[in-house]
Amino acid sequence: MKVEYKKPILSHIQEMQDLVHEEVQQGLILPRTMEEMARNIRSYYIAVFDGKIIGFCALHIYTPNLAEIRSLVVDVKYRNQGIAQELVNYNLLEGKNLGIKEFLVLTYRPNLFKRLGFNEIQKEKIPHQKIWADCVACKHFPVCHEIALLKTC
Ligand SMILES: CC(C)(COP(=O)(O)OP(=O)(O)OC[C@H]1O[C@@H](n2cnc3c(N)ncnc32)[C@H](O)[C@@H]1OP(=O)(O)O)[C@@H](O)C(=O)NCCC(=O)NCCS
Repeated sequence: MKVEYKKPILSHIQEMQDLVHEEVQQGLILPRTMEEMARNIRSYYIAVFDGKIIGFCALHIYTPNLAEIRSLVVDVKYRNQGIAQELVNYNLLEGKNLGIKEFLVLTYRPNLFKRLGFNEIQKEKIPHQKIWADCVACKHFPVCHEIALLKTC
């Protein structure tokens, strides 16, 4: 199976929204408006198979040192083949090339990230920028069961 990993363009946003709709409904991924996705379009990588977007992941920069891996999703039909891992690797490489030293993630799937060198951290260590920009908009806030992990380069 030949999956292509590349940067999206603005016309991909609707397809990305459709792909993530179910996970947003389930509260697994925070909702993002079309406008927010457009503003942050450069932060994404998409996985494409047979002309169709089957996954994506974003790297959101908070400070000159810190960025967050977020909005990771893979089409249910293509899971457990390493596509999420590959998407994260593309985002990590881009972040490293920009000079990012610390990568944060909040997830229900810690093992996926531990394999990539992330270590679990206490929730108190989550940067305030993340809490006030994102967490407050989450339907689980403030009782969050996600696990926070950090990778230092
Ligand atoms: C979480 C999610 C993105 C993972 O996508 P995925 O493409 O299935 O992820 P991967 O294939 O890289 O890894 C998944 C499992 O497949 C296994 N795997 C990886 N490569 C594999 C391969 N080549 N062959 C077989 N299995 C493989 C891994 O062991 C992994 O298991 P683990 O994470 O339980 O240890 C996907 O399940 C999803 O979209 N979930 C809903 C949204 C969500 O929860 N997102 C939040 C994540 S922060």
